[in-house]
Amino acid sequence: MLNVVIFGAPGSGKGTQSERLIDEYGLHHISTGEVLRDHISRGTELGHIADSYISKGQLIPDDLMVKVLAAVLDENPEKTAGGVIFDGFPRTVPQAEALKKMLADRGTKVHAVVGLEVPEDELVRRMLQRGKDTGRADDNLDTITNRLKVYHSQTSPLREYYINEGKYHAIDGSGEVDRIFNDIKSRLDGAK
Ligand code: AP5
Ligand code: MG
Repeated sequence: MLNVVIFGAPGSGKGTQSERLIDEYGLHHISTGEVLRDHISRGTELGHIADSYISKGQLIPDDLMVKVLAAVLDENPEKTAGGVIFDGFPRTVPQAEALKKMLADRGTKVHAVVGLEVPEDELVRRMLQRGKDTGRADDNLDTITNRLKVYHSQTSPLREYYINEGKYHAIDGSGEVDRIFNDIKSRLDGAK
């Protein structure tokens, strides 16, 4: 079993690399951003709440987000048994503590954290391009600026948190998708 947190700023390639890792390691992918966007598109109550934060580039409050993640984990016990890629969770230190407890209660843990490190101008370029290509609602300059601000103030402290736990693997996340994937793979194979 391998539980991996894929970590990085908005636009750093978490979703892109997760797709590749699923195939390579047979992991179950949980993207909290995708879970929330699915609720928004279905017009659920959670979707309405999530939309009010996502459209401003703010984080959904920790207590709600932790409940959402626990529900997703328990929805598919047979799919998560082989291991999970957590994409976009945790995003705050309290979320990291909650994940540690959630996994310990289920007899497991985070085995490795893959940190995709990409210069800020490249992040902005990627998200603006995706905004044009796909119309993703939070890929506009105002919201991107706030997402990056929130990342620096609330999420980036987790880098230190996981370095202290001896789990953080820094990956240069700019350049070819294949090269980045191979770098991740060699770090994960070494961590197993
Ligand atoms: P979320 O959906 O997680 O968005 P994000 O973190 O802002 O990250 P993105 O999905 O934009 O980027 P990514 O790192 O997945 O990169 P991707 O592979 O797509 O969260 C959205 C919102 O939901 C949050 O702002 C928050 O409001 C809320 N939320 C979610 N989780 C939460 C939580 N735990 N707590 C509270 N709130 C939460 O790549 C980006 C683009 O670049 C793509 O177009 C891709 O094709 C391209 N690309 C990828 N790799 C490369 C490369 N190597 N070279 C060139 N282009 C590349
Ligand atoms: Mg993503």
